[in-house]
Amino acid sequence: MKTLLFACVLVCTLSFAVAHHEDRDIAAVKNTTKVFFTLFEMDCKAWSNLFEVDGAFYHPLAGAVVGRKSLVDFCLSAQKAKGPNLFRQDGHIRVTKADGQYHVLVEYVYSTVKDNGKVFTNSGYESMIFKVAGGKAAIKAVTEFFNRSQEPYEWDPNA
Ligand SMILES: *[C@@H]1O[C@H](CO)[C@@H](O)[C@H](O)[C@H]1NC(C)=O
Ligand SMILES: *[C@@H]1O[C@H](CO)[C@@H](O)[C@H](O)[C@H]1NC(C)=O
Repeated sequence: MKTLLFACVLVCTLSFAVAHHEDRDIAAVKNTTKVFFTLFEMDCKAWSNLFEVDGAFYHPLAGAVVGRKSLVDFCLSAQKAKGPNLFRQDGHIRVTKADGQYHVLVEYVYSTVKDNGKVFTNSGYESMIFKVAGGKAAIKAVTEFFNRSQEPYEWDPNA
């Protein structure tokens, strides 16, 4: 009986510790995700540092952007685009843990005003993979999926 109790205390404490650890990891994943969406407002080097050294952003228009140097260039060219850019997280992260990595699916909205004065908007998902260590969540890869029409969005009041 005593042994059983001891075993339970050990297992229960251990599972509590694991759960606690996961809470901390998920908080870090949530935070890195939030900061990722400030691409247009933050310093590009700091933004690229959210990724692992060989981290990647697979983007439907830019293609495979791999490594911090390319990520900085991608960020700078995004920020150079004229007009207001709104890129934001649209809802909570959906997180799964597999193989010691955290996988996140999160919706976003992006909107900008093009040179021709037309509003372009799209929404979709970022599928993200994180490596979490020491309470820090680094992005291994992000793949962006979006639904969009082939033409920039144009509101036709007669349609
Ligand atoms: C969130 O992430 C940023 C960028 O890595 C970091 O500077 C900041 O300390 C983090 N905040 C928390 C509360 O973990
Ligand atoms: C995205 O496009 C697909 C195919 O047209 C459609 O089935 C789906 O409902 C769309 N999703 C959203 C969120 O608009």
